[in-house]
Amino acid sequence: MPNYLITGGEGQLGKCFAAVAEEFPKNKLIFTNQNEVDITHLETLKKCFDSRPFDGIINCAGYTQVDFAEEEYEKANKINVEGLRNISVFAEEKELCIVNFSSDYVFDGTSMSPYKENDKPNPINKYGYSKYNGELLLKKSSCQHTTFRISWLFSPFGENFVKTILKLSKLKKTIQVVNDQHGRPTYGIDLARTVLSNISKPDFYNFNFYNYAMQGTTTWFDFASKILAIKKNTCQIKSCSTAEYPTLAKRPKHSVLDTKRIENHLSLNIPSWEDSLKRCLKRIDNNEKI
Ligand SMILES: NC(=O)c1ccc[n+]([C@@H]2O[C@H](COP(=O)([O-])OP(=O)(O)OC[C@H]3O[C@@H](n4cnc5c(N)ncnc54)[C@H](OP(=O)(O)O)[C@@H]3O)[C@@H](O)[C@H]2O)c1
Repeated sequence: MPNYLITGGEGQLGKCFAAVAEEFPKNKLIFTNQNEVDITHLETLKKCFDSRPFDGIINCAGYTQVDFAEEEYEKANKINVEGLRNISVFAEEKELCIVNFSSDYVFDGTSMSPYKENDKPNPINKYGYSKYNGELLLKKSSCQHTTFRISWLFSPFGENFVKTILKLSKLKKTIQVVNDQHGRPTYGIDLARTVLSNISKPDFYNFNFYNYAMQGTTTWFDFASKILAIKKNTCQIKSCSTAEYPTLAKRPKHSVLDTKRIENHLSLNIPSWEDSLKRCLKRIDNNEKI
């Protein structure tokens, strides 16, 4: 049975893997938090491997604070690039495979057509640069590896847009949400299932990049409106432009990922974001504490 180390096991995506782990009894997942495996310290990977050997690394660890990265670029690169370098060096030495995650924010969002895996990245914020630098590094690795580019990650866990809207709608009578950024939300639970159902297939590593996101393009405003509609929440929602809602980091306007490669290569039927959102809200309802 292959063993996979999950780094960043207590982050949003790490918890999505934990939530579906028992559906995949043929893979043993070793979950670690930053205290056990700090990817910026190679020796912590070695120590973990010595006590619990693994065949591959699913890297859910990362620096993910898009706005803070504008002022903490060094820290972002330390985790998203140097950390990944340690994973890659270690994987090469032990002949392990790597699954990594990157972001639609490697693109500038000026293209009106969906981004394919081979389109040239051109990040417009520091977080995007750190993710792109990480991609470039891993691309050179001699170990088997693939990077999933994902966008607008949501789930019942951690901090994400769905949970923020649920929280704000309980606190405020009116909320304002930007209506001029377009993208495809990614449901972490569906993503984790996709990775675990395919990770042991020989063809999985034929590509070094896969885009993955739910079917259908939306805006943050339409996404928020749908959350409120499903919850039958009467909180007022108003749309605004990006210019009216300034943030430290620039956001791409149209970072829509084209997912045909993964759909064709792994014969996937990716659900719509509305379908995934309903399932996510159901999970949240069933366990208010998560
Ligand atoms: N969230 C999104 O919308 C989105 C969109 C596109 C791509 N992605 C990518 O998807 C991946 C997972 O994102 P996420 O939303 O799950 O992020 P997250 O919730 O912020 O989780 C990241 C985890 O990494 C851990 N971590 C930070 N530095 C570490 C280190 N040096 N060693 C080990 N662990 C470390 C964090 O621990 P602490 O909490 O203790 O710091 C946290 O548990 C990331 O690669 C991210 O760039 C996310």
